[in-house]
Amino acid sequence: MCGIVGYLGKQQAYQILVQGLHRLEYRGYDSSGVAMISDSGALNIYKAKGKVKALEDHAKDKDLSGSIGIAHTRWATHGEPNDINAHPHCSQSQNIALVHNGTIENYNVLKEALTQQGYTFVSETDTEVVVQLIEYIKTKNNCSLFDAVKEAARQVVGAYAIAVIDKNNPDEIIAARQSSPLVIGIKDDEYFLASDATPIIEYTNKVVYLNDGEIAVINRKDGLRVFDIKSRSEAKICITELKMSIEELEKGGYPHFMLKEIFEQPKTLADCISGRISSDGKRVVLSGVIEHKEKFLNANRIIIVACGTSWHAALIGKHLIEDFCRTPVVVEYASEFRYCNPVVGENDILIALSQSGETADTLAALELAKSRGAFVFGICNVIGSSIPRATHSGCYIHVGPEIGVASTKAFTGQVTVLAMLALLVGQMKGLVSDETLEKVASDIRRVPLLIKDIFKMNDRIQDLAKIFTYAHNFLYLGRGYNYPSALEGALKLKEISYIHAEGYPAAEMKHGTIALIDNDMPSVVIAIKDNVYEKTVSNIQQVKARGGKVVAIVTEGDTVVSGMADYVLEVPEISECLTPLLTSIPLQLLAYYIAVNKGRNVDQPRNLAKSVTVE
Ligand code: F6R
Repeated sequence: MCGIVGYLGKQQAYQILVQGLHRLEYRGYDSSGVAMISDSGALNIYKAKGKVKALEDHAKDKDLSGSIGIAHTRWATHGEPNDINAHPHCSQSQNIALVHNGTIENYNVLKEALTQQGYTFVSETDTEVVVQLIEYIKTKNNCSLFDAVKEAARQVVGAYAIAVIDKNNPDEIIAARQSSPLVIGIKDDEYFLASDATPIIEYTNKVVYLNDGEIAVINRKDGLRVFDIKSRSEAKICITELKMSIEELEKGGYPHFMLKEIFEQPKTLADCISGRISSDGKRVVLSGVIEHKEKFLNANRIIIVACGTSWHAALIGKHLIEDFCRTPVVVEYASEFRYCNPVVGENDILIALSQSGETADTLAALELAKSRGAFVFGICNVIGSSIPRATHSGCYIHVGPEIGVASTKAFTGQVTVLAMLALLVGQMKGLVSDETLEKVASDIRRVPLLIKDIFKMNDRIQDLAKIFTYAHNFLYLGRGYNYPSALEGALKLKEISYIHAEGYPAAEMKHGTIALIDNDMPSVVIAIKDNVYEKTVSNIQQVKARGGKVVAIVTEGDTVVSGMADYVLEVPEISECLTPLLTSIPLQLLAYYIAVNKGRNVDQPRNLAKSVTVE
């Protein structure tokens, strides 16, 4: 949610900042802006409503000089998306500029106090309060920008990652973080600041992740120094070497990141599995679990917290862990868990499941469980993000950067890791036989190839999408392992095509939802050969009897459903517990092609952002 970029060095900053904004556009794209201290010492701020391209058009004839600058791409929280509410925000004297990711909870109180001191505000944002507060402190105490930002950081309540520059000091950027991510890239005497590493990787692979409660001074002469905001003591700088490549951040010839990421899944899942199933196929190796074996053996309960697509993967994780480990699992929306005074304690394991590793609700749910003594375990994609750094242990899904706002390869990566975790813990508990482990592990290894097989249906799915492009509502039905797949299929369609869709347990439909079914309401039914296959077949008949159109996802060779459904998409046979890894693929493609037919912005759907770092 909102992306921040900053640069201080010997190159001209503008191109670096704008290129960085393009990389971070997935975090928010309703407006953007840059602030640079020009070669002649002016503080130039350019902002525009809309995508980064609009900013580039607006700025093209302006003074773009300067080797220090900050920039921002916005996902609006306070105040509608327009030029005025866009960041950077400027102090009353027009000397200090600031960009912010997060939300300031006490901004009203601060605003009132500053208004009484003669400050006026031009925007509706919470952010403007912070830059005015910094200026107020700096003027009142006659202190440095660093001291003023540090004091302001102590006074604001909420989540923030900020970067600040002062026209009177073109050699310094001050940055601070509390609950919103910030990364600083270092290359000789150049410094790159960003909300995540993607804008930095083309310049350097050496990065420093700022911790919560830290403030950084980036100075041309003195380099990078980091301090604790509260204690004021200097922190040790820990440089991490990133392994990400620039190709992973490009579309690679695909029209959209989402399509690229769907088609990447054979490779990303191979990466996810790599080194985690022993070469003889008899063991699963997840060191984050093995090192804490006792915790997993003795847990009374596992709680998985997540949001959105990750929550759907968590529901599949529940089935997997309960099937293989017989440990009770509850799956909670992180946003609900954190505020419901949950019963959680030291015999519980809390798994925080998150692609970005930055989702504010998931992070807060994790912190809550940790404070109550639970063992907290992260399953994330983005290396070095906040959730993995806050957990006792965890494992990455290793599917590479996911840039399309709609999650695809992260979902299958999450399910794959949860399957391996369930097998491993089940084996450690003596509940999974060697034969079962070998069979399921070998099926996990087959998944990348089987997904390639499913891609052969790409053209058919494209044709099918044409038939349903103008439907106004969709029902997605599934049972057991594939009830979450139905939820996920419906979410994919909703978020990128803006067609209303509901995911439902197939049998539950007859308790109310069936009233919606008619000729205009297609149902996508996952009817693979599992332990409830016959029941799902009856559910299809119930839909057909009411004139509903049915698109069925079936197991290869199925003749029963084929004779009944209007359209059929086949997926290869595999262990039942892994079927969501296959059934989700045609659903991703169907949503993608329908959205493309409707002319939607697939990678950046309206109102959404990839990394939800606000409540
Ligand atoms: C949907 C989607 C979102 C995310 C959700 C959680 O396609 O991407 O629903 O799954 O915002 O994000 P993470 O997994 O980063 O915590």
